[in-house]
Amino acid sequence: MQFKIAVVPGDGIGPDVTREAIKVMNRIGKVYGHTFEFQTVLAGGAAIDTYDECLPQNTIDVCKASDAVLLGAVGGPKWDALPGNQRPEAALLGLRKSLGLYANIRPAMVFEQLASASPLKPEIIGSGLDIVIVRELTGGIYFGERGEKETELGHAAYDVECYSVGEIRRIAKIAFEMAMKRKKKVASIDKSNVLLSSRLWRKTVTEVAEDYPEVELKHFYVDNASMQLIRDPNQFDVICTTNMFGDILSDEASQITGSIGMLPSASLSDGSFGMYEPVHGSAPDIAGKNLANPIATILSVSMMLRDSFNLVKESKAIENAVSRFLEEGYRTGDIARGEAKKITGTVETGDLITSFIE
Ligand code: IPM
Ligand code: MN
Repeated sequence: MQFKIAVVPGDGIGPDVTREAIKVMNRIGKVYGHTFEFQTVLAGGAAIDTYDECLPQNTIDVCKASDAVLLGAVGGPKWDALPGNQRPEAALLGLRKSLGLYANIRPAMVFEQLASASPLKPEIIGSGLDIVIVRELTGGIYFGERGEKETELGHAAYDVECYSVGEIRRIAKIAFEMAMKRKKKVASIDKSNVLLSSRLWRKTVTEVAEDYPEVELKHFYVDNASMQLIRDPNQFDVICTTNMFGDILSDEASQITGSIGMLPSASLSDGSFGMYEPVHGSAPDIAGKNLANPIATILSVSMMLRDSFNLVKESKAIENAVSRFLEEGYRTGDIARGEAKKITGTVETGDLITSFIE
């Protein structure tokens, strides 16, 4: 089969890690007889430097015309002083919105070989961790009305959290569908003891749950959820939450795995189209130094093959190759934890995983 992929390397280590993921994909193409056609476009700081805008229309057009998007990371200190709507991060938000990617899927799992990397005690983490966070991605406070005004206590700024029933329904459905393929548990996270938008969230998720009688639904307030994630992470299967709470909780969950450099993500809309990216950021301090861990991006490609292209065998082949890399004792610096392991750089990691594709 033939697929068109838009590649947005972005900033910092983005180009380092996407390069390795493309290597792995090309190998998959060779072994399984597919053609992956890549077109690289700019977004974020890289686009600001070249075109003076963080998200050129051409980038959106190329992404829309492709079957899937592979994104590295955006942002860096160089562009931090720009106004909010011109920062590299605005490119990411703009891409999500213009591509209609309302569902952000962030698995937080621990590879068996890395169980000791978790900062939680072994009796808490148990034999591992396997949570999926389903984060609403194109609504809520990130995209709500915002402004500035004068108040008695001086100048003020505000951002509005607003969710419609339609927005809540579609993200809840994604979470329940996912739970059906897993342990059949959904934890919906809100702040309905305080927020009106959260009360609508809770009510709507409860309604959607009626269509999934086999799935156990539990509601948590976000403050409690963040505590429960540390206290007993294995009580969770699928977590369904808003844009802002999902942003925060997914960073927390990723740290529980001990290796944010390993975690992939998918941003999906209704069809098969999706944007795939590592959960980690652009890490400008190690950019271009052959130090970045490309595994999160390589696993993002594995998600792309499965969720957008329905290439299940091929997707599995990538996961197996990553497992073998770890099994043979290879580690990038971020996951080595002082163990006597064979430390590999970005390029060597990509090469080894590529060579383990079968
Ligand atoms: C993420 C990031 C982004 C977000 C930033 C870079 C805009 O933190 O993907 O989690 O807040 O969504
Ligand atoms: Mn985040």
